Amino acid sequence: MLIFQPVTFKQPYKTIVIIVAWYIYTLLNNGYSEAIAQTSMQKEWQKMHESKKDALKSFQDARFGMFIHWGLYAIPGGIWKGKKMEEMGVPNVAEWVQLVAKIPRKEYAELAGQFNPVNFNADAIASLAKNAGMKYIVITAKHHEGFAMYHSKVSPFNIVDATPYNRDVLADLYKACKKYGLDFGIYYSHNIDWADGADAQYQETKLLNDKKGAVTDPFGANLWDPSQNTFQAYLDKKAIPQVEELLTSFPDLKCIWFDMPGLMKPGQSFQFYKTVYKKQPNTIINQRIGNQLGDYDIPGDNKIPEQQEKFDLPWETVGTLNNSWGYKSYDNDWKSPQELLYWLLEITSKGGNYMLNIGPAADGSVPVQAARNLEELGKWMKINGEAVYGTQRWKITHEGPASLNIGSTEQRQTEGFKLNISSEDIWFTCRNSTIYAIAMKSPSDGKIKVKSLNQGSGKIKQVELLGYGILKFEQRADALYLDIPTPADRSQGYVLKTTFK
Ligand code: GLC
Repeated sequence: MLIFQPVTFKQPYKTIVIIVAWYIYTLLNNGYSEAIAQTSMQKEWQKMHESKKDALKSFQDARFGMFIHWGLYAIPGGIWKGKKMEEMGVPNVAEWVQLVAKIPRKEYAELAGQFNPVNFNADAIASLAKNAGMKYIVITAKHHEGFAMYHSKVSPFNIVDATPYNRDVLADLYKACKKYGLDFGIYYSHNIDWADGADAQYQETKLLNDKKGAVTDPFGANLWDPSQNTFQAYLDKKAIPQVEELLTSFPDLKCIWFDMPGLMKPGQSFQFYKTVYKKQPNTIINQRIGNQLGDYDIPGDNKIPEQQEKFDLPWETVGTLNNSWGYKSYDNDWKSPQELLYWLLEITSKGGNYMLNIGPAADGSVPVQAARNLEELGKWMKINGEAVYGTQRWKITHEGPASLNIGSTEQRQTEGFKLNISSEDIWFTCRNSTIYAIAMKSPSDGKIKVKSLNQGSGKIKQVELLGYGILKFEQRADALYLDIPTPADRSQGYVLKTTFK
């Protein structure tokens, strides 16, 4: 019996509202015939999107995944010709070094000759993810630099043809994920490609926008040494064929994680969507495909959504273990296991997924502290994971004084993580007639009071302390009261599984 309606924000007329809004928007901006074309595209998309219901549900149930950013940028590791990212410009994340240092394409491509990650161990990475309690892995098949981390027949700028390493790391990881029962997905930078993507259609978009008096944002485009082909030629000859070959080489992709759509037109984003759907109709696609054509939402990088933020789609926050996605040799600002748990609880109690990134070094090794912190988190997940997997948002997500909303990678980097978490702080998740109350700190006397589980919340039948057993309790008008045993190792708090009549 489902006695707790999980909080969802679906509206019955969502589809109609979206289509009408889309139509009006396009009509105002681009005229009648364009509006008709886009409305029919939106309808076509809606049908495909709705057919992915089960795939999206299993994605939501998984809740916790691993992101891997790995490419040639791991070689400079955030330092180019003696200068650190911060001395050269923004963004400070290491995989952006080519743009920030304005490195010409030819010079950058020479990095491939040095790429020999002999310490890469796909099995160890998949096992790290598994032990951390993660259920899926998404790895960069091609980041903004344009270099393919798999054996691409479309472009020789890839890990097999252009490096001394000569191995397809995606194929290795795909196999390892199968072995450990993890879902596998790929990240693909479809719009930005500093090697072959010209200027990401900046000039042509600007010409059109200038006539309308609109501003054109070139963020991410290669304006220092753009390739001479047109952007459309890049799409037709590289990006779309590479996505096709990835779908063929890895016939069981959980998701394709597109990124930074920039100035992409609706038809272009839609072409990627359809390309994926044609080969693997159950592969889900994130919102960064652009033009609102994603199956699930990404609130932002390292962003904890605000309490009142509403999502019509399933969503996933992606986060870093330090402050960079790609390996950054001098960034030692590692999020502690405690902080990681805070992020996980903030996100899952609000109903989202959390995908946490590792950035292997150029030799393929995973930074020691990154692995250690994930292992620590894994210990918590082993005992308490059932409060995370397959759960939903309850009407109350958290009680207690701790409150810190982080909105971006940059914010976390500059402000750090300053938060007092007390034993009064409790997060909630729910599944059918069960509510989980999750605390990161135990009171020293073991006396627990959970206000939100007072008599008004329904009649509690049983309370179980995960990893321990059934506890006696008293449910009063103002709160749920109980004593928990206080062994010395309860440093990571506790989880109560409360079952209702
Ligand atoms: C941003 C960055 C990128 C990173 C990504 C992860 O869009 O451009 O470097 O891959 O976020 O979410």
